[in-house]
Amino acid sequence: MKKVIVTGGAGFIGSHTCVELVAAGMEPVIVDDFRNSDERVLQGLAKIIGRVPKLHRIDCTDEKALDQVLKVEAPDGVIHFAADKAVGESVRDPLKYYGNNIGSLVAVLRSMAKHGVKDIVFSSSCTVYGDSDQLPVTESTPPAGAASPYGYTKVVCERMLRETSASDLALRAVLLRYFNPIGAHPSATIGELPIGTPNNLVPFITQAAAGLRERLTVFGNDYDTPDGSCLRDYIHVVDLAKAHVRALGWMGDQKAPLCETFNLGTGNGNSVLEVVRLFEEVNGVKVPHVIGPRRAGDVEAMYADTKKSASLLGWRTELSLADSLRDAWRWQLALAKGQK
Ligand code: UFG
Repeated sequence: MKKVIVTGGAGFIGSHTCVELVAAGMEPVIVDDFRNSDERVLQGLAKIIGRVPKLHRIDCTDEKALDQVLKVEAPDGVIHFAADKAVGESVRDPLKYYGNNIGSLVAVLRSMAKHGVKDIVFSSSCTVYGDSDQLPVTESTPPAGAASPYGYTKVVCERMLRETSASDLALRAVLLRYFNPIGAHPSATIGELPIGTPNNLVPFITQAAAGLRERLTVFGNDYDTPDGSCLRDYIHVVDLAKAHVRALGWMGDQKAPLCETFNLGTGNGNSVLEVVRLFEEVNGVKVPHVIGPRRAGDVEAMYADTKKSASLLGWRTELSLADSLRDAWRWQLALAKGQK
């Protein structure tokens, strides 16, 4: 695999994946319309990899525009990140999510078919497991019904890939179920750039520690967990990015048709309060916080069984939660410096 189209390559996980693709000797070509990302990522990428990666500014639901890109680039494969991802927004505006997340995958697959591109890696989420009582979840844990329209778009997209790979098109598809990606590149040149108030825990923590938010609200401390707050599997975004390179390599050795699913997590469940405490400890800063009510739609606990990705992809996480929280804070400080 040499040239890879990376839809959503200007986003948080996409940009870190571009770095790892270059490190592995591949050529990422970004397809992104910057609706939910920031131009600053291009300078950050240039600092790390020595140049701005090739970029096509198009909407991934625009099949004609995608056709043009695939014709010009003739890629060996596609990594499809481009999607909307805010759970709460998806409840308020489900059609935005069905239109964009499902529409873009349909357009990508149709365009791939027209241009003879057979390999796709898809960004899925542990959200497909819903509120599972079987923990840790394995890839064969039955999806318990995603709680939000966003989550359901991932269930539908996974099924679309399963059916399309087994169809006359005979694709090779790898479905990666991310747990909770956090952190930033250790160089502090790229990281998460949440637009507006962050929905996710770690960006909210870094902003609260930096004084940009008054305080973090911990959503519930009455769950059936050791300290009462929810458990999640927080994975460093650099480890996650590296898994995409492994997935492409592994897929290259398989026969078509193929549709294989992998959990990408650390295998550990950490509570919200543990994350707050560890963040304070490794960074020597306070995170003002209060306990608030539960957030609608949150599951009590979710963490990955990682045996399949370890044995087939030969991949496991190398960075710790402390590394992730240190890198997230360094990124927040770099952002603040850039804004002065
Ligand atoms: N949390 C807080 N306060 C905040 C933000 C989050 O206490 O201000 C807690 C949440 O209640 C949860 C944990 O921090 O217990 C993590 O929350 P995030 O919003 O960071 O992440 P989620 O676990 O909700 O998100 C994950 C995936 C999504 C997926 C979602 C489905 O990242 O892709 O699960 O629930 F859609």
